[in-house]
Amino acid sequence: MNRLDWSSRPGQPLHGSVRVPGDKSVSHRALMLAAIAEGDSRIRGFLEGEDTRATAAVLAQLGVHIETPSAGERVVRGVGLHGLRGSSQPLDCGNAGTGMRLLTGLLAGQAFDSKLIGDASLSKRPMRRVTDPLASMGARIDTHDGLPPLQVRGRQPLHGIRYELPVASAQVKSALLLAGLYAAGETEIIEPHPTRDYTERMLAAFGWPITFEPGRAKLEGGHSLRATDVDVPADFSSAAFFLVAASIVPGSELKLPAVGLNPRRTGLLQALRLMGADITIENQRESGGEPVGDLVVRYAPLHGIELPESLVPDMIDEFPALFIAAAVASGSTLIRGAAELRVKESDRIATMAVGLRTLGAAIEETPDGALIHGGKLGAGSVESHLDHRIAMSFAVAGLVAAGPVRINDCSHVATSFPGFLELVNGCGFALRTVA
Ligand code: S3P
Repeated sequence: MNRLDWSSRPGQPLHGSVRVPGDKSVSHRALMLAAIAEGDSRIRGFLEGEDTRATAAVLAQLGVHIETPSAGERVVRGVGLHGLRGSSQPLDCGNAGTGMRLLTGLLAGQAFDSKLIGDASLSKRPMRRVTDPLASMGARIDTHDGLPPLQVRGRQPLHGIRYELPVASAQVKSALLLAGLYAAGETEIIEPHPTRDYTERMLAAFGWPITFEPGRAKLEGGHSLRATDVDVPADFSSAAFFLVAASIVPGSELKLPAVGLNPRRTGLLQALRLMGADITIENQRESGGEPVGDLVVRYAPLHGIELPESLVPDMIDEFPALFIAAAVASGSTLIRGAAELRVKESDRIATMAVGLRTLGAAIEETPDGALIHGGKLGAGSVESHLDHRIAMSFAVAGLVAAGPVRINDCSHVATSFPGFLELVNGCGFALRTVA
Protein backbone atom coordinates (compact mmCIF):
# COMPACT_ATOMS: atom_id res chain seq x y z
CA MET A 1 0.00 0.00 0.00
CA ASN A 2 1.41 3.44 -0.95
CA ARG A 3 1.90 5.88 1.88
CA LEU A 4 -0.55 8.75 1.87
CA ASP A 5 -0.33 11.79 4.16
CA TRP A 6 -3.05 14.36 4.69
CA SER A 7 -3.23 17.93 5.89
CA SER A 8 -6.47 19.22 7.41
CA ARG A 9 -7.26 22.89 8.12
CA PRO A 10 -10.31 24.94 8.91
CA GLY A 11 -12.60 25.08 5.88
CA GLN A 12 -16.15 26.39 5.51
CA PRO A 13 -19.10 25.74 7.80
CA LEU A 14 -20.22 22.25 6.78
CA HIS A 15 -23.32 22.04 4.62
CA GLY A 16 -25.14 19.59 2.40
CA SER A 17 -26.36 16.04 2.27
CA VAL A 18 -23.66 13.41 2.71
CA ARG A 19 -24.29 9.79 1.74
CA VAL A 20 -21.75 7.69 3.63
CA PRO A 21 -20.76 4.19 2.41
CA GLY A 22 -22.44 0.91 3.33
CA ASP A 23 -22.11 -0.73 6.71
CA LYS A 24 -18.92 -2.76 7.14
CA SER A 25 -20.29 -5.26 9.65
CA VAL A 26 -23.37 -5.99 7.56
CA SER A 27 -21.39 -6.23 4.30
CA HIS A 28 -18.97 -8.85 5.73
CA ARG A 29 -21.80 -10.96 7.10
CA ALA A 30 -23.93 -10.70 3.96
CA LEU A 31 -21.05 -12.06 1.86
CA MET A 32 -20.34 -14.96 4.19
CA LEU A 33 -23.93 -16.10 4.67
CA ALA A 34 -24.74 -15.68 0.97
CA ALA A 35 -21.64 -17.76 0.12
CA ILE A 36 -22.84 -20.80 2.07
CA ALA A 37 -26.53 -20.38 1.23
CA GLU A 38 -28.37 -22.27 -1.48
CA GLY A 39 -29.08 -20.04 -4.48
CA ASP A 40 -28.14 -16.53 -5.57
CA SER A 41 -28.23 -13.58 -3.20
CA ARG A 42 -28.03 -9.94 -4.26
CA ILE A 43 -26.37 -7.47 -1.87
CA ARG A 44 -27.17 -3.78 -2.40
CA GLY A 45 -25.37 -0.93 -0.65
CA PHE A 46 -22.29 -3.18 -0.22
CA LEU A 47 -19.27 -1.37 1.23
CA GLU A 48 -16.62 -1.08 -1.50
CA GLY A 49 -13.89 -0.93 1.15
CA GLU A 50 -10.66 -2.89 1.29
CA ASP A 51 -11.84 -4.88 4.34
CA THR A 52 -15.01 -6.17 2.73
CA ARG A 53 -13.34 -6.68 -0.65
CA ALA A 54 -10.74 -8.82 1.13
CA THR A 55 -13.55 -11.02 2.48
CA ALA A 56 -15.05 -11.28 -1.02
CA ALA A 57 -11.64 -12.28 -2.41
CA VAL A 58 -11.21 -14.96 0.29
CA LEU A 59 -14.65 -16.42 -0.50
CA ALA A 60 -13.81 -16.41 -4.23
CA GLN A 61 -10.61 -18.30 -3.38
CA LEU A 62 -12.80 -20.85 -1.59
CA GLY A 63 -14.77 -21.44 -4.80
CA VAL A 64 -17.65 -18.95 -4.48
CA HIS A 65 -18.62 -17.08 -7.64
CA ILE A 66 -19.28 -13.40 -6.85
CA GLU A 67 -20.37 -10.90 -9.49
CA THR A 68 -20.22 -7.10 -9.33
CA PRO A 69 -23.07 -5.82 -11.55
CA SER A 70 -22.35 -2.26 -10.38
CA ALA A 71 -20.37 -0.46 -7.67
CA GLY A 72 -21.94 -1.24 -4.30
CA GLU A 73 -23.71 -4.32 -5.59
CA ARG A 74 -22.75 -8.01 -5.45
CA VAL A 75 -24.49 -11.14 -6.64
CA VAL A 76 -23.22 -14.15 -4.70
CA ARG A 77 -23.80 -17.63 -6.13
CA GLY A 78 -24.15 -19.63 -2.94
CA VAL A 79 -22.43 -23.02 -2.82
CA GLY A 80 -24.45 -24.43 0.10
CA LEU A 81 -23.27 -25.24 3.62
CA HIS A 82 -20.76 -27.87 2.47
CA GLY A 83 -19.82 -26.43 -0.92
CA LEU A 84 -16.70 -24.40 -0.06
CA ARG A 85 -13.42 -25.76 -1.49
CA GLY A 86 -10.02 -25.46 0.17
CA SER A 87 -7.28 -23.20 -1.15
CA SER A 88 -3.57 -24.09 -1.17
CA GLN A 89 -2.80 -20.36 -0.88
CA PRO A 90 -3.10 -18.31 2.33
CA LEU A 91 -6.38 -16.41 2.73
CA ASP A 92 -5.51 -12.73 3.11
CA CYS A 93 -7.93 -10.79 5.33
CA GLY A 94 -5.97 -7.53 4.92
CA ASN A 95 -6.71 -5.14 7.80
CA ALA A 96 -10.05 -6.72 8.75
CA GLY A 97 -10.47 -8.13 12.26
CA THR A 98 -14.12 -8.86 11.50
CA GLY A 99 -13.16 -10.71 8.33
CA MET A 100 -10.51 -12.83 10.02
CA ARG A 101 -12.45 -13.68 13.18
CA LEU A 102 -15.71 -14.57 11.43
CA LEU A 103 -13.93 -16.56 8.73
CA THR A 104 -12.08 -18.52 11.42
CA GLY A 105 -15.43 -19.66 12.82
CA LEU A 106 -16.72 -20.49 9.35
CA LEU A 107 -13.59 -22.42 8.38
CA ALA A 108 -13.31 -24.40 11.63
CA GLY A 109 -16.10 -26.71 10.47
CA GLN A 110 -14.86 -27.36 6.90
CA ALA A 111 -13.40 -30.53 5.42
CA PHE A 112 -10.16 -28.77 4.40
CA ASP A 113 -7.26 -26.88 5.98
CA SER A 114 -6.95 -23.09 5.68
CA LYS A 115 -4.36 -20.50 6.55
CA LEU A 116 -5.57 -16.99 7.41
CA ILE A 117 -3.16 -14.06 7.22
CA GLY A 118 -3.47 -10.27 7.59
CA ASP A 119 -1.55 -7.01 7.32
CA ALA A 120 0.83 -5.54 9.92
CA SER A 121 -2.00 -4.13 12.08
CA LEU A 122 -4.17 -7.27 11.97
CA SER A 123 -1.12 -9.43 12.71
CA LYS A 124 -0.91 -7.77 16.13
CA ARG A 125 -4.52 -8.41 17.14
CA PRO A 126 -5.50 -11.05 19.71
CA MET A 127 -7.06 -14.21 18.26
CA ARG A 128 -7.24 -16.52 21.30
CA ARG A 129 -10.60 -14.94 22.20
CA VAL A 130 -11.88 -16.82 19.12
CA THR A 131 -9.59 -19.83 18.89
CA ASP A 132 -9.97 -20.90 22.56
CA PRO A 133 -13.77 -21.28 22.53
CA LEU A 134 -13.59 -22.79 19.02
CA ALA A 135 -11.13 -25.37 20.41
CA SER A 136 -13.65 -26.27 23.08
CA MET A 137 -16.11 -26.96 20.21
CA GLY A 138 -13.57 -29.43 18.82
CA ALA A 139 -11.76 -27.16 16.34
CA ARG A 140 -7.98 -27.30 15.83
CA ILE A 141 -6.43 -23.93 15.12
CA ASP A 142 -2.77 -22.99 15.50
CA THR A 143 -1.89 -19.36 16.19
CA HIS A 144 1.43 -17.57 16.29
CA ASP A 145 1.48 -17.08 20.05
CA GLY A 146 -2.18 -16.01 20.02
CA LEU A 147 -1.71 -13.82 16.94
CA PRO A 148 -2.22 -14.36 13.19
CA PRO A 149 -1.39 -16.18 10.98
CA LEU A 150 -4.01 -18.79 11.87
CA GLN A 151 -3.74 -22.35 10.65
CA VAL A 152 -7.23 -23.88 10.72
CA ARG A 153 -7.27 -27.68 10.48
CA GLY A 154 -10.18 -29.19 8.58
CA ARG A 155 -12.03 -32.47 9.15
CA GLN A 156 -12.58 -31.81 12.88
CA PRO A 157 -16.02 -32.85 14.12
CA LEU A 158 -17.49 -29.88 16.01
CA HIS A 159 -19.99 -30.00 18.85
CA GLY A 160 -22.07 -27.15 20.23
CA ILE A 161 -21.17 -25.38 23.49
CA ARG A 162 -22.75 -22.99 25.93
CA TYR A 163 -20.26 -20.15 26.19
CA GLU A 164 -20.25 -17.03 28.35
CA LEU A 165 -18.13 -14.44 26.59
CA PRO A 166 -15.53 -12.92 28.92
CA VAL A 167 -15.54 -9.66 26.87
CA ALA A 168 -18.43 -8.16 24.93
CA SER A 169 -17.48 -8.91 21.31
CA ALA A 170 -19.80 -9.31 18.35
CA GLN A 171 -16.91 -10.74 16.36
CA VAL A 172 -16.34 -13.59 18.83
CA LYS A 173 -20.07 -14.23 19.19
CA SER A 174 -20.43 -14.33 15.40
CA ALA A 175 -17.44 -16.65 14.89
CA LEU A 176 -18.93 -19.13 17.36
CA LEU A 177 -22.38 -18.94 15.79
CA LEU A 178 -20.88 -19.59 12.34
CA ALA A 179 -18.97 -22.60 13.70
CA GLY A 180 -22.23 -23.66 15.37
CA LEU A 181 -23.83 -24.08 11.92
CA TYR A 182 -21.44 -27.01 11.42
CA ALA A 183 -21.60 -28.38 14.98
CA ALA A 184 -23.60 -31.26 16.37
CA GLY A 185 -26.17 -30.03 18.89
CA GLU A 186 -26.77 -26.55 20.29
CA THR A 187 -24.44 -23.58 20.46
CA GLU A 188 -25.48 -20.94 22.96
CA ILE A 189 -23.68 -17.65 23.49
CA ILE A 190 -24.18 -15.39 26.50
CA GLU A 191 -22.68 -11.89 26.48
CA PRO A 192 -21.67 -9.68 29.41
CA HIS A 193 -23.27 -6.73 27.54
CA PRO A 194 -25.42 -7.04 24.42
CA THR A 195 -23.46 -6.42 21.20
CA ARG A 196 -24.53 -5.85 17.59
CA ASP A 197 -26.85 -8.66 16.50
CA TYR A 198 -26.42 -8.57 12.72
CA THR A 199 -25.32 -12.20 12.52
CA GLU A 200 -28.38 -13.36 14.43
CA ARG A 201 -30.81 -11.22 12.39
CA MET A 202 -29.22 -12.23 9.13
CA LEU A 203 -29.15 -15.95 9.95
CA ALA A 204 -32.88 -15.69 10.63
CA ALA A 205 -33.40 -13.83 7.33
CA PHE A 206 -31.52 -16.62 5.50
CA GLY A 207 -33.92 -19.11 7.08
CA TRP A 208 -31.73 -20.69 9.80
CA PRO A 209 -33.67 -21.42 12.99
CA ILE A 210 -32.16 -19.23 15.73
CA THR A 211 -33.44 -17.74 18.96
CA PHE A 212 -31.92 -14.52 20.23
CA GLU A 213 -32.52 -11.59 22.52
CA PRO A 214 -30.15 -8.84 23.70
CA GLY A 215 -27.16 -10.59 25.29
CA ARG A 216 -28.05 -14.16 24.27
CA ALA A 217 -28.20 -16.27 21.09
CA LYS A 218 -28.82 -19.96 20.46
CA LEU A 219 -28.87 -22.18 17.37
CA GLU A 220 -28.27 -25.79 16.43
CA GLY A 221 -26.25 -27.27 13.60
CA GLY A 222 -27.44 -29.19 10.60
CA HIS A 223 -29.93 -26.87 8.89
CA SER A 224 -29.47 -24.97 5.62
CA LEU A 225 -29.45 -21.35 4.49
CA ARG A 226 -31.76 -20.04 1.76
CA ALA A 227 -30.39 -17.30 -0.53
CA THR A 228 -31.78 -13.86 0.37
CA ASP A 229 -31.28 -10.33 -0.90
CA VAL A 230 -29.66 -7.94 1.56
CA ASP A 231 -30.00 -4.13 1.66
CA VAL A 232 -27.01 -2.72 3.51
CA PRO A 233 -27.68 0.55 5.39
CA ALA A 234 -25.12 3.40 5.50
CA ASP A 235 -22.52 2.80 8.20
CA PHE A 236 -23.20 4.67 11.45
CA SER A 237 -19.47 4.46 12.23
CA SER A 238 -18.70 6.42 9.05
CA ALA A 239 -21.49 8.90 9.76
CA ALA A 240 -19.88 9.47 13.19
CA PHE A 241 -17.11 11.69 11.77
CA PHE A 242 -19.71 14.01 10.26
CA LEU A 243 -21.78 14.07 13.45
CA VAL A 244 -18.75 15.33 15.38
CA ALA A 245 -17.50 17.62 12.59
CA ALA A 246 -20.80 19.49 12.15
CA SER A 247 -21.26 19.68 15.94
CA ILE A 248 -17.95 21.52 16.42
CA VAL A 249 -17.77 23.85 13.37
CA PRO A 250 -19.95 26.95 13.95
CA GLY A 251 -22.65 27.53 11.34
CA SER A 252 -22.74 23.89 10.15
CA GLU A 253 -25.77 21.83 9.19
CA LEU A 254 -25.43 18.41 7.57
CA LYS A 255 -27.89 15.73 6.56
CA LEU A 256 -26.80 12.08 6.52
CA PRO A 257 -29.42 9.99 4.69
CA ALA A 258 -30.33 6.34 5.30
CA VAL A 259 -27.95 5.61 8.17
CA GLY A 260 -28.27 2.28 10.01
CA LEU A 261 -29.58 2.95 13.53
CA ASN A 262 -29.31 -0.47 15.14
CA PRO A 263 -29.43 0.41 18.86
CA ARG A 264 -26.20 -1.53 19.48
CA ARG A 265 -24.38 0.95 17.22
CA THR A 266 -25.73 4.37 18.15
CA GLY A 267 -24.12 5.04 21.54
CA LEU A 268 -22.26 8.03 20.09
CA LEU A 269 -25.55 9.70 19.24
CA GLN A 270 -26.54 9.54 22.90
CA ALA A 271 -23.09 10.58 24.10
CA LEU A 272 -23.04 13.64 21.81
CA ARG A 273 -26.55 14.60 22.88
CA LEU A 274 -25.46 14.40 26.52
CA MET A 275 -22.67 16.82 25.54
CA GLY A 276 -25.23 19.26 24.11
CA ALA A 277 -25.20 18.26 20.43
CA ASP A 278 -28.14 19.10 18.16
CA ILE A 279 -28.85 15.89 16.23
CA THR A 280 -32.29 14.87 15.02
CA ILE A 281 -33.51 11.75 13.26
CA GLU A 282 -35.92 12.19 10.35
CA ASN A 283 -37.81 9.70 8.26
CA GLN A 284 -37.18 6.77 10.61
CA ARG A 285 -38.07 3.49 8.90
CA GLU A 286 -37.07 -0.14 8.49
CA SER A 287 -34.91 -1.38 5.67
CA GLY A 288 -33.88 -5.03 5.32
CA GLY A 289 -34.98 -5.72 8.91
CA GLU A 290 -32.80 -2.89 10.30
CA PRO A 291 -33.86 0.51 11.68
CA VAL A 292 -32.68 3.29 9.36
CA GLY A 293 -33.10 7.07 9.45
CA ASP A 294 -31.80 10.38 8.07
CA LEU A 295 -29.61 12.17 10.61
CA VAL A 296 -29.59 15.97 10.72
CA VAL A 297 -26.79 17.55 12.72
CA ARG A 298 -26.35 21.25 13.43
CA TYR A 299 -23.54 23.08 15.20
CA ALA A 300 -24.04 23.35 18.97
CA PRO A 301 -21.57 24.22 21.74
CA LEU A 302 -20.49 20.98 23.42
CA HIS A 303 -19.62 20.46 27.08
CA GLY A 304 -17.72 17.65 28.79
CA ILE A 305 -19.48 14.68 30.39
CA GLU A 306 -18.83 11.63 32.48
CA LEU A 307 -19.59 9.03 29.82
CA PRO A 308 -22.04 6.40 31.13
CA GLU A 309 -20.19 3.06 30.99
CA SER A 310 -23.34 1.39 29.71
CA LEU A 311 -22.85 3.25 26.40
CA VAL A 312 -19.35 1.87 25.78
CA PRO A 313 -20.25 -1.36 23.89
CA ASP A 314 -22.73 0.59 21.73
CA MET A 315 -20.10 3.06 20.54
CA ILE A 316 -16.97 0.93 20.54
CA ASP A 317 -15.76 2.11 17.11
CA GLU A 318 -16.70 5.76 17.67
CA PHE A 319 -14.30 6.62 20.49
CA PRO A 320 -11.64 8.25 18.29
CA ALA A 321 -14.31 10.69 17.04
CA LEU A 322 -15.62 11.22 20.59
CA PHE A 323 -12.07 12.03 21.79
CA ILE A 324 -11.98 14.92 19.28
CA ALA A 325 -15.38 16.23 20.42
CA ALA A 326 -14.23 16.03 24.05
CA ALA A 327 -10.93 17.79 23.30
CA VAL A 328 -12.72 20.90 21.99
CA ALA A 329 -15.72 20.85 24.37
CA SER A 330 -15.92 23.11 27.41
CA GLY A 331 -14.97 21.23 30.59
CA SER A 332 -13.68 17.68 31.00
CA THR A 333 -14.86 14.32 29.71
CA LEU A 334 -14.22 11.12 31.62
CA ILE A 335 -14.22 7.79 29.76
CA ARG A 336 -14.05 4.51 31.71
CA GLY A 337 -14.65 0.83 31.01
CA ALA A 338 -13.25 1.01 27.47
CA ALA A 339 -10.11 -1.19 27.74
CA GLU A 340 -11.13 -2.98 24.50
CA LEU A 341 -10.00 0.16 22.66
CA ARG A 342 -6.44 -0.98 23.25
CA VAL A 343 -6.84 -4.01 20.93
CA LYS A 344 -8.52 -2.39 17.94
CA GLU A 345 -6.75 -1.57 14.63
CA SER A 346 -4.36 0.35 16.92
CA ASP A 347 -4.27 0.97 20.68
CA ARG A 348 -6.88 3.71 20.31
CA ILE A 349 -6.47 5.14 23.80
CA ALA A 350 -2.73 5.59 23.31
CA THR A 351 -2.84 6.76 19.68
CA MET A 352 -5.53 9.35 20.42
CA ALA A 353 -3.79 10.54 23.59
CA VAL A 354 -0.43 10.97 21.86
CA GLY A 355 -1.99 12.66 18.82
CA LEU A 356 -4.16 15.04 20.85
CA ARG A 357 -1.24 15.98 23.10
CA THR A 358 0.78 16.79 19.97
CA LEU A 359 -1.98 19.25 19.09
CA GLY A 360 -1.77 20.81 22.56
CA ALA A 361 -4.70 19.07 24.28
CA ALA A 362 -4.57 18.06 27.95
CA ILE A 363 -5.44 14.39 28.24
CA GLU A 364 -4.71 11.83 30.92
CA GLU A 365 -4.63 8.21 29.80
CA THR A 366 -5.92 5.44 32.10
CA PRO A 367 -5.78 1.66 31.52
CA ASP A 368 -9.45 1.62 30.45
CA GLY A 369 -10.13 5.13 29.22
CA ALA A 370 -9.07 8.76 29.50
CA LEU A 371 -9.77 12.08 31.16
CA ILE A 372 -9.87 14.70 28.41
CA HIS A 373 -9.78 18.38 29.31
CA GLY A 374 -11.51 20.42 26.61
CA GLY A 375 -9.78 23.47 25.14
CA LYS A 376 -8.21 24.70 21.92
CA LEU A 377 -6.22 22.59 19.46
CA GLY A 378 -3.11 23.79 17.64
CA ALA A 379 -1.14 22.69 14.59
CA GLY A 380 0.92 19.52 14.59
CA SER A 381 1.84 16.27 12.90
CA VAL A 382 0.14 13.08 14.12
CA GLU A 383 0.43 9.37 13.27
CA SER A 384 -2.50 7.17 12.17
CA HIS A 385 -0.76 3.93 13.27
CA LEU A 386 -2.37 2.12 10.30
CA ASP A 387 -5.77 2.87 11.83
CA HIS A 388 -8.46 4.28 9.52
CA ARG A 389 -10.56 5.75 12.32
CA ILE A 390 -7.61 7.56 13.89
CA ALA A 391 -6.80 9.18 10.53
CA MET A 392 -10.40 10.32 9.92
CA SER A 393 -10.76 11.62 13.48
CA PHE A 394 -7.71 13.86 13.15
CA ALA A 395 -9.05 15.11 9.79
CA VAL A 396 -12.04 16.33 11.85
CA ALA A 397 -9.70 17.89 14.45
CA GLY A 398 -8.07 19.95 11.70
CA LEU A 399 -11.39 21.74 11.09
CA VAL A 400 -11.07 23.59 14.40
CA ALA A 401 -7.29 23.65 15.00
CA ALA A 402 -5.38 26.94 15.02
CA GLY A 403 -3.03 25.64 12.31
CA PRO A 404 -2.76 22.71 9.88
CA VAL A 405 -2.98 19.18 11.25
CA ARG A 406 -0.78 16.78 9.31
CA ILE A 407 -1.89 13.15 9.51
CA ASN A 408 0.73 10.63 8.50
CA ASP A 409 -0.10 7.41 6.67
CA CYS A 410 -3.81 7.63 5.86
CA SER A 411 -3.97 4.91 3.19
CA HIS A 412 -5.93 2.62 5.55
CA VAL A 413 -8.95 4.92 5.39
CA ALA A 414 -9.86 2.97 2.24
CA THR A 415 -10.51 -0.11 4.40
CA SER A 416 -13.81 1.33 5.62
CA PHE A 417 -14.41 4.64 3.86
CA PRO A 418 -13.48 4.80 0.17
CA GLY A 419 -13.91 8.34 -1.19
CA PHE A 420 -13.61 10.02 2.24
CA LEU A 421 -11.42 12.86 0.96
CA GLU A 422 -13.77 13.84 -1.90
CA LEU A 423 -16.87 13.52 0.27
CA VAL A 424 -15.56 15.67 3.13
CA ASN A 425 -14.19 18.35 0.81
CA GLY A 426 -17.58 18.44 -0.92
CA CYS A 427 -19.27 19.55 2.30
CA GLY A 428 -16.74 22.13 3.52
CA PHE A 429 -13.59 20.43 4.85
CA ALA A 430 -10.17 21.60 3.62
CA LEU A 431 -8.43 18.22 3.55
CA ARG A 432 -5.53 17.75 1.14
CA THR A 433 -3.01 15.06 0.36
CA VAL A 434 0.53 16.28 1.01
CA ALA A 435 3.95 15.10 -0.20
C1 S3P B 1 -17.53 -5.74 14.78
C2 S3P B 1 -17.45 -5.84 16.14
C3 S3P B 1 -16.63 -4.93 16.97
C4 S3P B 1 -16.22 -3.69 16.19
C5 S3P B 1 -15.72 -4.01 14.81
C6 S3P B 1 -16.81 -4.70 14.02
C7 S3P B 1 -18.37 -6.70 14.03
O1 S3P B 1 -15.44 -5.62 17.35
O2 S3P B 1 -15.24 -2.98 16.91
O3 S3P B 1 -15.30 -2.86 14.12
O4 S3P B 1 -18.65 -6.48 12.84
O5 S3P B 1 -18.76 -7.71 14.64
P1 S3P B 1 -15.36 -6.56 18.66
O6 S3P B 1 -16.18 -7.77 18.40
O7 S3P B 1 -13.90 -6.88 18.80
O8 S3P B 1 -15.89 -5.72 19.78
